[in-house]
Amino acid sequence: MAEGQTNEPAGTEIRPYGADAVSRAAACIARGLPVAVPTETVYGLAADATGGAAVAKIFETKRRPRFNPLIAHVASLDMAERQAVVDPLSRRLAEAFWPGPLTLVLSKRPQSPVHPLVTAGLDTLALRHPRGFGERLIAAFGRPLAAPSANSSGRVSPTTAAYVAADLGPRIRLVVDGGATSVGVESTILKVEGESLRLLRPGGIAAAEIEAVAGREVVRSRGAALEAPGMMRSHYAPRAGVRLDAREIAAGEALLAFGPRRAERAERAVAIINLSETGDLREAAAGLFAALQRLDASGAATIAVEPVPSTGLGEAINDRLRRAAAPREIEEGRS
Ligand code: TXA
Ligand code: MG
Repeated sequence: MAEGQTNEPAGTEIRPYGADAVSRAAACIARGLPVAVPTETVYGLAADATGGAAVAKIFETKRRPRFNPLIAHVASLDMAERQAVVDPLSRRLAEAFWPGPLTLVLSKRPQSPVHPLVTAGLDTLALRHPRGFGERLIAAFGRPLAAPSANSSGRVSPTTAAYVAADLGPRIRLVVDGGATSVGVESTILKVEGESLRLLRPGGIAAAEIEAVAGREVVRSRGAALEAPGMMRSHYAPRAGVRLDAREIAAGEALLAFGPRRAERAERAVAIINLSETGDLREAAAGLFAALQRLDASGAATIAVEPVPSTGLGEAINDRLRRAAAPREIEEGRS
């Protein structure tokens, strides 16, 4: 090897999700380097959850405030139980929805090797068992992986490898490209508290699906202190302003459409993306973040958003849209 060279490529490597991607990603993570990987929800920035320096690099790379805890990802319910106490209702939900877009906030076991930086010092730990590449990587690595969404703090979560590279590119060594993620919004976060089941973040599993398995209503807390410390009001912020519930389009606006019927004067829009012509909320969730990013790239000062119903996955979609539209000046602690 020539002098001055290292055994690492200088730029960001984007590697297709092929035969050696798991071992290549596991090798990077073993050296303490965060790696961007596909999950079924959004791309995650993964590092060894038991290593303080590795976890610190996640926070630095995203420029994320350290008071905002991370989700630790596991490859089995067994691995989860070594980290936290899984109460009977949480177990029922894990059995029904894992692997999948469900995160459970549980009481952390003192003997868990997960580093305190992951939980930001809380005595609870958020755990999720992802599907697909993430699951294979964790199983190969043998330890939980901390992984927030692979975006700069406060920006839109990435659903393609290209967006990860465009946002974090120079700051990370490896992006594993698994194509566009299938769910498109982050996991649903739940916490069992005594008899009640609290919804801390609506996400890729609709509340009604959770309720059908849990046999009780999920409790949504509004207006109280932040439930998940990262659930700040402004988040998912594109550069353009976002105008919700648009019934009529103004000249120069970009239009995020939904369903078969258009807002008035839609022909004025400089760019239009329809989340789902047929009004399918699953399809809309899958395309939401990429649509915001593409409309932002149109250069329009404002993205006008047609109304989206709040049923099913519409709850998560509207949550993300409200955050994308929120005022941005003083907000910190986004994820
Ligand atoms: O789908 C997902 O959940 C993606 C993929 C990569 O797994 N991850 C993700 O991570 O969305 P992140 O860091 O962007 O969002 C995690 C959220 C934050 O709002 C954080 O505050 C909250 O989970 N959280 C983490 N630990 C918590 C805890 N112990 N109690 C309450 N909220 C917690
Ligand atoms: Mg995030």
